Amino acid sequence: MSRPFFFGTNFKMHQTARETCTFVEGLASRRVPEGVRRFVIPPFTSLPGLPRLGHPAGIAIGAQNAHYAAAGAYTGEISIGMLAEHDVDLVMIGHAERRHDFGESEDIIARKSAAVLGSGLTLLLCVGETLDERTRGDTAPVLVRQLRGALADIPRGSLVWVAYEPVWSIGEGGLPADVADVAPAVGIIRETLAGLIRIADVPLLYGGSVNLANCADYAGIPGIDGLFVGRAAWTLEGYCGVLERGHASWSRKAAI
Ligand code: PGA
Repeated sequence: MSRPFFFGTNFKMHQTARETCTFVEGLASRRVPEGVRRFVIPPFTSLPGLPRLGHPAGIAIGAQNAHYAAAGAYTGEISIGMLAEHDVDLVMIGHAERRHDFGESEDIIARKSAAVLGSGLTLLLCVGETLDERTRGDTAPVLVRQLRGALADIPRGSLVWVAYEPVWSIGEGGLPADVADVAPAVGIIRETLAGLIRIADVPLLYGGSVNLANCADYAGIPGIDGLFVGRAAWTLEGYCGVLERGHASWSRKAAI
C-alpha cells in the first residue's frame, strides 16, 4: 500500500467547543481521497465528544499538550490518562509556543514524549530551530538534539509522527520558509530518525505559515508526508482547500 498523506490543524487557543464540533462535523461530511489521514488538534475543552464526530470519517483528534505524570499536585495540568478517557488519538508535544513561550525544556519534552509513547497514543513531536540558531548555522545540531532528546530509548512499535516547524516561520509575523531552506532540514531529520533504529517509517509533516499559495511547494519536498497548518486551516474552506492542493502536489511527487 502506498504511504498516506497527513493533514491537520492546530487551533491553538482558538475556537470554542461548539465551534470545534461544527468544524469537525463539516469536515466529516467532506469526502477525501483514500489514503488521506486528517486530524484536528483543538483546545482541551473541545475534546469531549469530538472523537465520536470525527472517527467515523477517519478524522483523528489530538490534544495540544499533556503532563508527563499520571496524576499529582500539578494544578492546571492534564494527564495523558485523562485525554485517553476521551478517546483522543494523538498528543502534540514540543510545539514551538510551548518550548519558547512557556519555557518547556528539552528535559520536560523528553519526559512528556516518553509518557505519550508509553500510553499507546500517537506522539506528534514538533521540532524546529529559532532564527538565531539558523543564523548561527546551528539548524542541524538543534534538530538532531531535539529528536534524540525526545525519541531516545523509545519502545519498539511506538506510534510517532514528527512535525518540522521552523520557529521563525510560525504564526502571526512568521515568515514562510524557502523550500530551499526546508529541504536540507528535512534530510537531516530523516537521517536522524533512521539512526534511531527502533522507529522506521515515521510520518514527517511540515508546518509554519503554510497556506493555499505555498502548500504545494512544501508538500512536494522529498521526505515530507504531510502538512501541519495553523491559521490557513481554521475555516472549513481553508482546511479543505489547502488539503486538496497540498495532496495533489504530494501525489505527483509520490508518482515519480
Ligand atoms: P501557522 O501555525 O500555520 O499559523 O503558522 C503553525 C503551527 O503553529 O503549527
